[in-house]
Amino acid sequence: MKKIVLVSLLFIGGVVTAANMHFEKNAKCSSCHPKIYEEYMGSQHGNATIFKDKLHGAVYNKHPQKNKLQKYRCAKCHTPTADNLSELLTPHNGVTPDAKNETQNEAVACAYCHRIEEVKSGKAMSKNIISKEPLSYFSNKEKPGTSPFHKITTKKAIFKDAKLCMGCHTHKANKKGFNVCATGAKDMNAEKNCISCHMPQVEGASSIMSKGTKHRFHGFPGIHGDLKLLSKYVTLDLSKEKSQFKVSVKHDVTHASTLHPLRMSKLLVSVERDGNVTQMKTEKLFQVIGAEVNGTAKPTPPWLATKIIKDSRIDANSKKEYAYAFTLKKGDKVKVKFGHLLMKKKAAKKFGLEANEEANKFRVLSEKTFVIE
Ligand code: HEC
Ligand code: HEC
Ligand code: HEC
Ligand code: HEC
Ligand code: HEC
Repeated sequence: MKKIVLVSLLFIGGVVTAANMHFEKNAKCSSCHPKIYEEYMGSQHGNATIFKDKLHGAVYNKHPQKNKLQKYRCAKCHTPTADNLSELLTPHNGVTPDAKNETQNEAVACAYCHRIEEVKSGKAMSKNIISKEPLSYFSNKEKPGTSPFHKITTKKAIFKDAKLCMGCHTHKANKKGFNVCATGAKDMNAEKNCISCHMPQVEGASSIMSKGTKHRFHGFPGIHGDLKLLSKYVTLDLSKEKSQFKVSVKHDVTHASTLHPLRMSKLLVSVERDGNVTQMKTEKLFQVIGAEVNGTAKPTPPWLATKIIKDSRIDANSKKEYAYAFTLKKGDKVKVKFGHLLMKKKAAKKFGLEANEEANKFRVLSEKTFVIE
């Protein structure tokens, strides 16, 4: 009997070491790729960990995964290069997130993304297949240079069609099998995809040893960060009618206007006439997830949701129009702003973030002023 227990313990030990792979640290890349490193360190991918992202930390604190299961499954996407990843994913073993563990501060690490070999679909979430070669990085350039530090495997199709992004971004289902988040990407192709919009070409060589003049931006703007790079995909227009006017938002994006259920978008419209400003009704666009309680649909936290109970977001590649009962006349200035909040007010309160500036700041994506002729 004793012998069997010993054997099975060794076996578990073996599985654990095999699952925790080693990755080079982000800082290792900084000496030769300083520009990319700097962009990345300011991005959400560089700050996705529970210690750096206060919103993530606040939601985890209320989550049954912490309070009932005592595991940190979020690590799979928020800090996938933790050197004790499989222990973090296992319930009730006493292993919890630890700020002193440097590898748990690496977030969506450089070496992790550049070692994604394939992405497989899955029920609860998709799965990244990571290459076993620790020092060979994938990309898609026709003719890359050579690196004294690592091998380069280029012309990797998933780095062109953006499939490499999907392992963490397609969907996430809760225990009830409901998709809490789903990107639902529509009509992507080799020219228009996650990479072309979220990693546009910007000035500067990709390494200190490269003669190139451009590189793909690693600041990954989305709702955080500088949104100027994304403004061109959301255009605002105005049409004047007899006793009302309409503002349209054209959303040339392959996914809906927000993806995370915590978010809210706002359309702010005001009219300036003879120095006086009249504020129009603010349009709020968001998704509410929830569940049926005694025959009525009620909002719930993500882990209890079974359905979408309200959705006023703008769909992929579509246009929405909003009417305002106000008669415009010559000389009026109509100011229109479209942007996002990281968290709906109610959610910020629920997660104890009502005083958190990041969570409550309105981030303008597109704005335009129309002067009536
Ligand atoms: C000693 C310098 C050095 C270090 C350290 C280094 N690289 Fe590189 N890397 C290079 C050079 C040189 C190239 C080729 C440059 C080019 O093609 O412009 C390159 C190319 C790449 C490419 C391919 C880009 C392409 O042009 O297709 C990737 C991806 C990459 N590096 C990732 C990393 C990551 C991730 C790290 C850190 C874990 C890292 N590098 C650390 C020097 C380095
Ligand atoms: C399947 C991968 C995956 C897993 C697992 C995952 N997340 Fe995320 N998370 C994401 C992605 C991708 C985003 C960015 C999505 C977006 O902005 O719409 C995100 C964003 C967030 C945000 C918004 C952060 C901000 O600063 O705006 C919070 C909060 C969050 N996740 C909490 C959690 C918690 C808590 C867990 C574990 C219980 C978890 N996530 C597990 C992929 C994942
Ligand atoms: C979320 C995934 C992801 C992360 C994290 C990431 N990269 Fe990239 N990287 C990409 C993709 C996608 C490309 C574009 C591939 C292509 O077009 O060849 C790219 C391109 C590059 C290139 C070639 C740049 C160019 O356009 O010439 C280098 C070098 C590079 N990455 C290094 C890094 C370094 C260093 C880090 C961390 C500081 C990093 N990457 C983090 C996904 C990622
Ligand atoms: C045509 C350009 C375009 C393409 C293609 C695109 N996006 Fe976006 N993405 C945007 C814009 C613009 C926003 C800002 C939100 C909005 O108004 O739609 C955004 C927002 C996001 C956000 C933040 C959403 C939130 O609720 O926090 C994530 C995450 C994201 N995109 C991921 C992706 C992924 C993954 C892909 C590929 C499947 C992709 N995007 C393809 C333009 C694009
Ligand atoms: C290892 C998992 C992983 C991979 C692979 C990945 N992401 Fe993400 N991504 C995340 C997580 C986690 C977040 C949310 C981080 C946070 O806010 O805490 C995120 C956030 C984002 C955002 C939102 C940033 C914002 O400002 O709100 C964009 C845009 C994005 N990712 C684009 C991409 C693109 C493009 C790719 C492919 C080149 C990609 N991601 C690959 C995990 C991943």
